[in-house]
Amino acid sequence: MNTIRCDVLVIGAGAAGLMCALTAGQRGRRVQVIDHANKVGKKILMSGGGRCNFTNTGTTAGNFLSANPHFCKSALARYTPADFIEMVERHRIAYHEKELGQLFCDISSKQIVRMLLDECDAAGVQIRTDCGVQDIERGSDGFRVQTAQGLFHCASVVIATGGLSIPSMGASGFGYEVARRFGHEVLPTRAGLVPLTLSGRHQERFAELSGVGLPIEARCNGQRFRNFMLLTHRGVSGPAILQISSFWQPGDDLRLDLLPDRDAEQWLREMKRERGAAELRTVLSEVIPRRLSLRLCEHWLADKPVRQLDEREIKATAALLADFPLVASGTEGYRTAEVTLGGVDTRKVSSSTMESQLVPGLHFIGEVLDVTGWLGGYNFQWAWASGAAAGNAV
Ligand code: FDA
Repeated sequence: MNTIRCDVLVIGAGAAGLMCALTAGQRGRRVQVIDHANKVGKKILMSGGGRCNFTNTGTTAGNFLSANPHFCKSALARYTPADFIEMVERHRIAYHEKELGQLFCDISSKQIVRMLLDECDAAGVQIRTDCGVQDIERGSDGFRVQTAQGLFHCASVVIATGGLSIPSMGASGFGYEVARRFGHEVLPTRAGLVPLTLSGRHQERFAELSGVGLPIEARCNGQRFRNFMLLTHRGVSGPAILQISSFWQPGDDLRLDLLPDRDAEQWLREMKRERGAAELRTVLSEVIPRRLSLRLCEHWLADKPVRQLDEREIKATAALLADFPLVASGTEGYRTAEVTLGGVDTRKVSSSTMESQLVPGLHFIGEVLDVTGWLGGYNFQWAWASGAAAGNAV
């Protein structure tokens, strides 16, 4: 069997793996990257609706969920959004800010993959696809990694195999298996940035409204996100819901403010004063989508002229509109989730080099670690930053 000697073997040619490889290559390390998929960077290609939200200029440690919230600080401080933007500009990739510091390619996420591959190429990095790993062993002279394309013999192994979301794109639990095998703890994983499903009455009442969307504020467990919500056949989606989904677990109280830009009570009193003869559903249809307004008036709200609402009813109506208790039954799971929460426990990993504190030479980067960003370019920034941290250390 073919034996390939190198300094660094990166397993996983996604965002973090490619960034680690090009950084290590630029330092003169002999780097090999392998991926079991037939193509590199599949998630980058599908990200941001094909335009890759490649970073967020406002990235801070506060935009990440982790059992060890300080872990991500060092890498994020040493490889910043400005560092990645510098590379994007050097490759003449046009981009724009969509909202809240989110940067997207003007043309295509393919440009980001091309950029990473060009940088890898210039740094002498070799990349192999369709190359699954059969076994990893650590001996006194480094690691031996048996793969479909030969035996790799190297000083450092970097696990960059990502999380469990979108299995059809090559996601696997491989990184967690390796971590466990070398004595690391893996914190429970679950789907994050994922649509929520409804059941029972809420599912019945909202299913027909599939396609209806509106700006809301979603609140759960002390977190709140103001953005768009979309009703779907199975439940709710859209950025506000994806964001809050990472903080929600079955049984948790989830509230929606359906009128996030106004004081519902004040608005109802104003309607009573100025539009007294109008039905509640009519005035409500002027501030939220009509189909949703009709459904709310059919099942939850008193459907009558607003002048007939007494003070108690005004308060109750306002409370329902501003603090609607949505009973979610679950999430759509890894099939559609953008990220995986949980993963390799960072407490036994160096925050500056991403190296295992249990196994010298073994590194974990990107989403396989228990570091998960909010929606909005933070997850790629973590992939770049953790990849660069390991790439500078291997
Ligand atoms: P990533 O998943 O990118 O790469 C892992 C690689 O390892 C893959 O190439 C895989 O094939 C390979 N692999 C897995 N198991 C293996 C094995 N056993 N052997 C060999 N190789 C193996 N984030 C963001 O910041 N902005 C955005 O716009 C989006 N948009 C978005 C859309 C969608 C639909 C999804 C699913 C996700 C996003 N994300 C995102 C999240 C982002 O894509 C994600 O956080 C990063 O890609 C994680 O980078 P990693 O390199 O850690 O894993």
